[in-house]
This record gives sequence, C-alpha cells and structure tokens, in this order.
Amino acid sequence: MKIAIIGFGQIGKTLAGKLSAAGHEIRVAASRDPGTIAAEAVQLGAQAFTATRVVEGVDVLILSTPLTAVTSLAATVASLPVSTVVIDTSNYYPFRDGAIAALDGGVPESVWVSEQLGRPVIKAWNAVLSYTLAHHGKPEGADDRLAVPVAGNAPAGKDLVSQLVNATGFDPVDAGQLSQSWRQQPGNPAYCTELSAPVLRAALAAADAAQAGSRRDAILANLISRRPPPTHAEIVATNRSMSAA
Ligand SMILES: NC(=O)c1ccc[n+]([C@@H]2O[C@H](COP(=O)([O-])OP(=O)(O)OC[C@H]3O[C@@H](n4cnc5c(N)ncnc54)[C@H](OP(=O)(O)O)[C@@H]3O)[C@@H](O)[C@H]2O)c1
Repeated sequence: MKIAIIGFGQIGKTLAGKLSAAGHEIRVAASRDPGTIAAEAVQLGAQAFTATRVVEGVDVLILSTPLTAVTSLAATVASLPVSTVVIDTSNYYPFRDGAIAALDGGVPESVWVSEQLGRPVIKAWNAVLSYTLAHHGKPEGADDRLAVPVAGNAPAGKDLVSQLVNATGFDPVDAGQLSQSWRQQPGNPAYCTELSAPVLRAALAAADAAQAGSRRDAILANLISRRPPPTHAEIVATNRSMSAA
C-alpha cells in the first residue's frame, strides 16, 4: 500500500520504519522543509515530501502530529478521495496543547479530530508509547504479544488499519465505534499500559470517563517531577497503577 505519514517525530518515524519494513511504500512529511528530513527518511525506507504533496495518490494517511496541528491540515485532508483511510494517532494533553473546551467537556479526542477534518478517522497507535512501538512488537502468534486498540466507524477501514497494526508487531483489538474511543485516551487503564489482547479488552471496559482527565494530569505531573527521569518500565508501571479503577 502507499501510505503517507504526516508528523516525523517519535511515532511517525517509528511507524515509517516498521511499515516500510512490512513492504509498504511510505511517504513522510514534517512541518520542516522536507530536505531536512530526507536522509533520515531514506534510512527508514521512506521518501520525504511537503505536508501538502505527501498525500498524493496514497491509500492511507496517518496523522502523527500534535493534536493542535490537525486543524491546519484540514485542507490537505479534504483533497483526498473518500476511499483514503485516515488514521489519527493523537492524544490531548492540556499541559502541552492548551485547553480545548470541547475536549475538556467530554467530546472524544478523535471525534473532535474528525470534526476538524470534516471526514471520518480511525484511532490507532495512540495508546502505545513510542518506545513500546519501537521495541516491544512481536510476530503474529507470539506468546505474550502486546495489543493496540483500534476504534472507528467504517468496518472496511478498521479492518485495514488492524492489518497495519498487526504488521507493526501488535495484536489489534477492536475498541468499538469512534464515539467509544475515549476508552483508549490518556488516564484510562488501556492507555500505554502494555497489555495483551484479553487484558486490553478488560481495560477498555473498565475505562472511567469521569476520572480519566484528572488521572491523565496526575500521571503526567508525577512523571515529569521524578529525578532521575523514570525509565520506560517505570512509566508503564505508573500508567498502570495511577489509571487503575
Ligand atoms: N510519543 C509517544 O510515545 C506517543 C505515543 C502515542 C501517541 N502519541 C501521539 O502521537 C502524536 C505525535 O506524537 P510524537 O511523540 O511522535 O510527536 P513529536 O515527536 O513531537 O513529533 C511531531 C511531529 O509532527 C510534526 N508537525 C507538527 N505540526 C505539523 C504540521 N502543521 N504539519 C506537518 N507536520 C507537523 C513535527 O514536525 P517537525 O519535526 O518539523 O517539528 C514533528 O515531526 C501526538 O498527538 C502524541 O500525543 C505519542
């Protein structure tokens, strides 16, 4: 498949390398001039373009920018045929993104993204830390393979995204319609807690919309206050303990 990734940061680069290794044609873009990322893109098996040109002729577009950049990408996304599957990896952190009233009021983050873009999105890879994505993937069928939730409304698009999640080394778990995608947002037990598929399903069911925002903020405050900075394993352990019901 021909896949564009807008956002060449921790998640975008990792997805570029993994999906290229899985045999897909990968085009990447950042906010910077594509010349500044071209060499690194080639090392990952991808080609760099501007954020406008990167989407030309693609089957799939992965948005892996800060949530706040999404609005500025709406015109680019609007240029795509309806058949192009758009994947949203983003998360809302008011500390980083500033307050967004709709999200603070409970609109699921990917529903808001979909509204900004004026088209459906599938939510995937938002609930896996970039380190986990880069280092903890396993082949399909492996013991203790970790899982990644996939939420969205179009069954065909969700199937395709699930295949891509599988290709990156994780079991895709159907997390329901986009309206249910709050269950995989920060502060919930399914968010960046490195769970196998059966445990992830239980974690999605245990999500608590009333508590998630305050838990998200408490987890972030805890992690950034620690000296020395927490290790990856400590981050996962903190996510697990502080998001538990
Ligand atoms: N890091 C994680 O562990 C993790 C895990 C799951 C989900 N997420 C979510 O995934 C998203 C990306 O996270 P990240 O950690 O990969 O972020 P990041 O490392 O900060 O990278 C963000 C990328 O987006 C690009 N960008 C920003 N505004 C843009 C615009 N208007 N047009 C085109 N590109 C733009 C940046 O371009 P420049 O390089 O030119 O600055 C950068 O390449 C966020 O919403 C985050 O919450 C992150």
